[in-house]
Amino acid sequence: MPPQANPEARFKQQAGEHAASLVQSGMVVGLGTGSTAIFATRKIAVRLQTGDLQGIVAIATSRATDDTARALGIPMLADDIPREIDITIDGADEVDPAMDLIKGGGGALLREKIVAEASRLEVIVVDEGKLSPRLGTHWPLPVEVLEFGWRSQVRFLESLGAAVTPRPGNGGLFRTDQGNLILDSRFGPINNPLELAGKLEARAGIIGHGLFIGIASDLVVAGNDGIRHLQR
Ligand code: 5RP
Repeated sequence: MPPQANPEARFKQQAGEHAASLVQSGMVVGLGTGSTAIFATRKIAVRLQTGDLQGIVAIATSRATDDTARALGIPMLADDIPREIDITIDGADEVDPAMDLIKGGGGALLREKIVAEASRLEVIVVDEGKLSPRLGTHWPLPVEVLEFGWRSQVRFLESLGAAVTPRPGNGGLFRTDQGNLILDSRFGPINNPLELAGKLEARAGIIGHGLFIGIASDLVVAGNDGIRHLQR
């Protein structure tokens, strides 16, 4: 890939490619979703082609990433995640100073969390524009809900203080890889993400949410000052 002229895109490329250099031969690798993680996936494919990397297998966090990775010739594992994942490289929409995240801008939050929780290292790659003093400041929280009764989930989220927008998709509502809907829930700055996560997880019909608390092990941030690699 030629270097990107647009700074944000260039930073995404730098962060993604830096994280790809953390992958070692023989590892089981989780491949994230989105315009930043894709740079890591492409770089891993190049390293395989040049022989710099050997004997890895990967698992994708979305059908889109799975299709891309297979097309690039990356050996893929079955969906049941038969082995522990050594390292996953994924993007995020918002990152707070505690390295907690909002994810799900691409709608892949549930698979992303499943893969992250099965990973020894969860490396988050972002451009510096994703850094935030408090989750929810810049980005709505994606909440994945079962289609049955989804309007009751809108009312529930509103009762928690969110302004809710059902995510639009092709000719109707967006569908996740699991066939569920996404309710983009704008809470504003979230004072207690752990408490909110608990309320969402206790609600029948809510399948997942984009709060990733205590899950990232590493953060790679690219920006005007270069690349920073932080560890929890
Ligand atoms: C997809 C995600 C992405 O990782 C997140 O939206 C960041 O995407 P991008 O790198 O394109 O900004 O959570 O569900």
